[in-house]
Amino acid sequence: MGPAHGHPEVTTLMTTTNDIAAEDTPVVELKATGKSYGNIRALHGVDLAVRPGQVTCVLGDNGAGKSTLIKIVSGLHQHTEGEFLVDGTPVRFSTPREALDKGIATVYQDLATVPLMPVWRNFFLGSELTKGPWPVRRLDIEKMKKTADEELRNMGIVLDDLEQPIGTLSGGQRQCVAIARAVHFGARVLILDEPTAALGVKQSGVVLKYIAAARDRGLGVIFITHNPHHAYMVGDHFSVLRLGTMELSAERSQVSLEELTNHMAGGTELAALKHELAQVRGVDVEELPDAAAVSS
Ligand SMILES: Nc1ncnc2c1ncn2[C@@H]1O[C@H](COP(=O)(O)OP(=O)(O)OP(=O)(O)O)[C@@H](O)[C@H]1O
Ligand SMILES: [Mg+2]
Repeated sequence: MGPAHGHPEVTTLMTTTNDIAAEDTPVVELKATGKSYGNIRALHGVDLAVRPGQVTCVLGDNGAGKSTLIKIVSGLHQHTEGEFLVDGTPVRFSTPREALDKGIATVYQDLATVPLMPVWRNFFLGSELTKGPWPVRRLDIEKMKKTADEELRNMGIVLDDLEQPIGTLSGGQRQCVAIARAVHFGARVLILDEPTAALGVKQSGVVLKYIAAARDRGLGVIFITHNPHHAYMVGDHFSVLRLGTMELSAERSQVSLEELTNHMAGGTELAALKHELAQVRGVDVEELPDAAAVSS
């Protein structure tokens, strides 16, 4: 691919320029992007930039537009306002396959796995390795087992037995297998829709660890969550959606966990709710716990 016969100095110069361009151009970028479903405006004026080796967290309450946003990026829906760019070029995907071809992989909460099939088989689901010439081509079981094992280990995921049905793994472990799978199949951007929503504290920690592992391997991660604590543990950038618009977009250095929690909770709304609760219960407002503490 590179200029094999070029002058050495020229080659170095070109590489440097490319590197700078690669660092500056987000892999995925939304500019004033919006989406309407008929008369319903689910998303409006959203800006987002996903860079390699960074975790971009998208937070928001129920109905805030989080899923709508990732459906645009993952090729399920098309935006109706603004721009959607991949590597700096405006795109409009018609199918998730087109997003995948650009290296945008999505791990949905209801993971598309076959519970009774072994772990290694699920790892290669839809992309099975084969060997031998047609018409005697058959599944390369050994290679699939070996590769799945290696890739899981590379991510630091140790499972006792890859023959066990994936349905016997914990929810957290299944999320981890899905992350390792996306990494193996060359994802550049990994979208995770509420991967910790149904998990306990310990399992959430495990999933967060592999989000960090994917980031360290250079992937740009979009982490959807309504838990500011989880977001703050791994996030480089935080975007808070509220009723379809972006209420906050901040780098890690610009926002504290407390501020993030307050944004998520809708500080003023919670304060109003607290007053109502105090009236109902006939107690003084000060006797109720702090508004920010309620949301966690
Ligand atoms: N296919 C659709 N047709 C019509 N309206 C939709 C459709 N999908 C979503 N909406 C609306 O768009 C808004 C945003 O929904 P979205 O699913 O993106 O929110 P969310 O942040 O993912 O919420 P949750 O936390 O509940 O998953 C909601 O008001 C929802 O009712
Ligand atoms: Mg959703």
